[in-house]
Amino acid sequence: MRLTVFNGSPRGRKGNTNIILDHFLRGYEATPGNTYELYHLNRLKETEHFVQAFAQAETVVLAHPLYTDAMPAIVKAFIEQLEPYLDRDNKPAIGFIVQSGFVEAAHSRYVERYWEKLSRRLGSCYLGAIIKGGCEPLHRGEKQFQKVLVSFYELGKSFGEAGQFDEKMVKELAQPEKLSPLLRFIIQLVWKINGNGYWDTWLKENDAYERRDARPYEGG
Ligand SMILES: Cc1cc2nc3c(=O)[nH]c(=O)nc-3n(C[C@H](O)[C@H](O)[C@H](O)COP(=O)(O)O)c2cc1C
Repeated sequence: MRLTVFNGSPRGRKGNTNIILDHFLRGYEATPGNTYELYHLNRLKETEHFVQAFAQAETVVLAHPLYTDAMPAIVKAFIEQLEPYLDRDNKPAIGFIVQSGFVEAAHSRYVERYWEKLSRRLGSCYLGAIIKGGCEPLHRGEKQFQKVLVSFYELGKSFGEAGQFDEKMVKELAQPEKLSPLLRFIIQLVWKINGNGYWDTWLKENDAYERRDARPYEGG
C-alpha cells in the first residue's frame, strides 16, 4: 500500500500527534511493501506541496489534535485548499486520527461527524476515525502511556495489512466514551480546590505567569 499522511498538529514534529503517528506508521510498515510519505501541515510555506500530495494520493490518513472542540486552523485551511480536486476521478480513501487532552472520546465525536461528511463531499471512501482522549501527557514519555502507543502500533499494523481500521480496536481505544457521574464529581472537586494549578505550572515554566491576565488587544 502507498499511504499519504498529514500531521495536522501546530506543534509539528514536537507534538503528541507526531508521537502517535510514529507508532501507527511503524506498525503500518511491518507489512513488506508498504510505503508512506508524511507531511507536517504546520510548515505553512509548503501548502502547495501538500495539496499536490493529496491530489496524487491513493490512501490518506489525516491526524490532528482536538483544539477547542474542533480541528486546528492549519487543518481547516488545508481542507479549504482541496476544492479544485473535487473533480478528480480517483479520489483517495481517507481515514482520520483525532487525539485530545480530555479523556472522554465524546469530545471528538462532533469533529468525527464533520470528517465523515467531508469525505462524502470529496467523493472519497471514508475509512473511519480513530479517536483517543487523554493524550496531553504523551510527550512526557511516562511508562503508563506505553499501552496507548502499543495500541496505535497494533492499529497501524492491522491497517497496513487490511487497508482498513480494525473496528473492534478502534472502539476499545476510544474508551472511556464518557466518565461516570462519580468520577466527574471528583474531577470537578479537584478542579475547584486546585484551581488552574496545571495551567499555572505551564505558565511558570514558560516565564509567562505574571502576564496571565494580560489583555494586549484591549483599548487598542
Ligand atoms: C489551543 C489548544 C486547544 C485545545 N483544545 C482542546 C479541546 O477542546 N479538547 C481537548 O480535549 N483537548 C484540547 N487541547 C489539548 C490537545 O488536544 C492535546 O494536548 C493534544 O495531545 C495536543 O497534541 P499536539 O501536541 O500534537 O498538538 C487543546 C490544546 C491546545 C494547545
